[in-house]
Amino acid sequence: MKLLNKTLLSMAAVLISTYALAADKPGKSAISSAHYLATEAGFEVLDQGGNAFDAAVAVSAALAVVEPASSGIGGGAFWLLHRNEDQKNIMIDGREEAPSAAHRDMYLDAQGEVNRSLAMHGPLAAGIPGHVAGMVHIARNYGRLPLKVSLAPAIRLARTGFPADEKYIRLLKPVHKHMLRWPAGRAIFLHDDEIPALGAVIKQPDVARVLEQIVLTGTKDFYHGETARLLVKGVNEAGGNWSMEDLAAYKVVEREPVRFTYNDYELITASPPSSGGVAIAEILNILEPYKIAECPEAQRIHLVVEAMRRAYRDRSIYLGDPDFVDVPVAMLIDPQYAAGMRTSIRTDKATPSSALAGIADVAGGKHTTHFSIIDSQGNLVAATLTVNTLYGANFVAPGTGFLLNNQMDDFSAKPGIPNAYGLTGFEANAIAPGKRPLSSMSPTFVIGEDRVAVLGTPGGSRIITMVLLSILDFFAGNGPQSWVSLPRYHHQYLPDRIFAEPDAFSEEVQGQLRALGHEVQILNRQWGNMNAVMWDRRSGKLEAASDPRTPSGRATVK
Ligand code: DON
Repeated sequence: MKLLNKTLLSMAAVLISTYALAADKPGKSAISSAHYLATEAGFEVLDQGGNAFDAAVAVSAALAVVEPASSGIGGGAFWLLHRNEDQKNIMIDGREEAPSAAHRDMYLDAQGEVNRSLAMHGPLAAGIPGHVAGMVHIARNYGRLPLKVSLAPAIRLARTGFPADEKYIRLLKPVHKHMLRWPAGRAIFLHDDEIPALGAVIKQPDVARVLEQIVLTGTKDFYHGETARLLVKGVNEAGGNWSMEDLAAYKVVEREPVRFTYNDYELITASPPSSGGVAIAEILNILEPYKIAECPEAQRIHLVVEAMRRAYRDRSIYLGDPDFVDVPVAMLIDPQYAAGMRTSIRTDKATPSSALAGIADVAGGKHTTHFSIIDSQGNLVAATLTVNTLYGANFVAPGTGFLLNNQMDDFSAKPGIPNAYGLTGFEANAIAPGKRPLSSMSPTFVIGEDRVAVLGTPGGSRIITMVLLSILDFFAGNGPQSWVSLPRYHHQYLPDRIFAEPDAFSEEVQGQLRALGHEVQILNRQWGNMNAVMWDRRSGKLEAASDPRTPSGRATVK
């Protein structure tokens, strides 16, 4: 009965919050993205009468041009949309898909060992891209403006070029030797085979041409026409396995987001093939009764880590492409399930991950990008876009001008067997033709009567815990500047260790966590690149913030 009352109360809270959101509008707009030129592209389109969804197309296309390390038209994305007029919430799944020639052992060598280089560099690492199909779908179904307008800033940036910044250069260094392997990409992203100097102009005329074809033909050129032919030829001549049919078969999928309530706020977040929303729901459900805001710091971190550990255990067992495997989403996000999980948590002692039944995966890469938008009408977009690791597969099919992703590495290359890093993959995420690899990308909305948050970040398997810590910070009453700046910590079941940024824990807290039985590793680097916006409906104010860890980001309200 108590539970029923609680459920009715939360349903009422959702109804009240969605009704109220429809009733008011912020009047101004806010965009936070990882690159100032992309944020400017979004405002350029808003200024021409576009809505948040047109701006999302403009920002996605501009990021593809100016942040090629992180996302691109050779990659994929999840766009989470909230349309204020009818309160529709939808996740646009533009995730890459395995080509039809893919098979579960495709990255195993003669000894049955995973060949990580094949899975990460070159055309065999690439899934069929979804970024372009996603942009066209959003423009046609949710935008107000033609693609001619929303793609114009990106076309201009591709043609006239953008200045290489510190991040472009820093992220090229680890993959320089791979970029040298394939001439088409080498000629665009390197200058005379060297890493370009700060401020050197990077021009992408082929990308400008492909984007113009998108304006003229929608998805036809990219998935069925000349660009498709160039992709298939370039990929296969360099050892890949794509066909024209693979590109022609690619479809955007509209998916119901994961939705649940926490503290009377409605959370709307990524659903499978992302593991993010399910894991965030499970962690918050586990934490709900603990009143963690009132706990001493080490105790709070301990409980958060124990919840993370359990959610990542479940991620490794249950999560995969829902079109291929039955993902028990309803079970995993049920508060009753969380109650069961809680029974194994001790407040005085860490649970060794080995004491929890299961197998583990720790997928994750080094770059990706996220942007957040609220427009003047109250429409919301949270989008995380990726080519997976730095500069994707480091491979450009000649004549196309853009890097392909290496998203195939997000599959489990060898289910059930530890990989090169001692991590174990799993059946639900085994490679299969036409299947989408499991992701951690977690674009998220938190909607309440008083405040509305839009957030997300890159960071591989750490995306989920970054978004989670920021949601907890939102509930602690803080705004986007605080969420993006927060020192971060992370636990992902295996390895059984808390990873923390240099300034996350004091010596005292580290000692307390160790005394509880946790292994704590303070890393000498930070992670993530969060971009978030918030609408405070009490004051009517919009706030936007870009992660201080990456200075090229830009958060603007106007
Ligand atoms: O979809 C995923 O979970 C990964 N491909 C994201 C990679 C990523 O965030 C790398 N970022 N630093």
